[in-house]
Amino acid sequence: MRTAFMAGNWKMNKTPSEAVAFAKELVEALKGANAKALVAPTFVALPGVAEVVKGSNVLLGAQNMASVESGAHTGEVSADMLLDIGVQYVILGHSERRAIYGETDSLINTKVKFAIEKGLLPILCVGETLEEREAGKLEEVILTQVKEGLKGVSEADLAKVTIAYEPVWAIGTGKTATPDDADAVHKYIRKVIADLYSGSAADAIIIQYGGSVKPDNVKELMAMENIDGALVGGASLKTDSFKSIVFFDK
Ligand code: PGA
Repeated sequence: MRTAFMAGNWKMNKTPSEAVAFAKELVEALKGANAKALVAPTFVALPGVAEVVKGSNVLLGAQNMASVESGAHTGEVSADMLLDIGVQYVILGHSERRAIYGETDSLINTKVKFAIEKGLLPILCVGETLEEREAGKLEEVILTQVKEGLKGVSEADLAKVTIAYEPVWAIGTGKTATPDDADAVHKYIRKVIADLYSGSAADAIIIQYGGSVKPDNVKELMAMENIDGALVGGASLKTDSFKSIVFFDK
């Protein structure tokens, strides 16, 4: 049985004080949810939000993390710094990090392994662009991103990893993959995991869908066999819409 897992990626939105006020509302709104719920504010909002969510059922994630321990890395934030303020999860390999900041599968893999080693739980994002999909390269792209992203991760450690399938063309565009299309890719990711690890690892892994998830499409997505949750951008920025997503089963 896979527990539904809804994550709100706030991206570069909300100042620290806005984030704290919003987190207070969310902690109240999300009480009693069956699904796991996570918020991922910006780095500077993490300490304040950590205080607010402490002791609640709202989990805390970062949107990125440095690939190295510490030292001369201007502008980076380390795993130890995140752990020190109570961060539990880290989103890695988001398509915006890949496309805008040039993150490669190899860098993302280093971060995934480092997060696990440090005790942070990675949410590894994968997804194809529209050009790749139209060129018939969907499976090739997903295979590479999953395989390279998880290189060197043991089956025991895979249990700490969540995968988020986010077709790049569906992010922030209002275009969602149809539930059938999304489920087909999730099913393919499970096959890749079964080939790399085992059938039981493939059954157990949580695979979120991301890309214009909204209160009005979450139910049909979650009804699909291989979709276990959502990584939500835009619709995670308002209490009502994120609440409806987390309570999709009510
Ligand atoms: P969106 O973003 O829900 O605004 O499409 C999803 C994401 O990028 O994680």
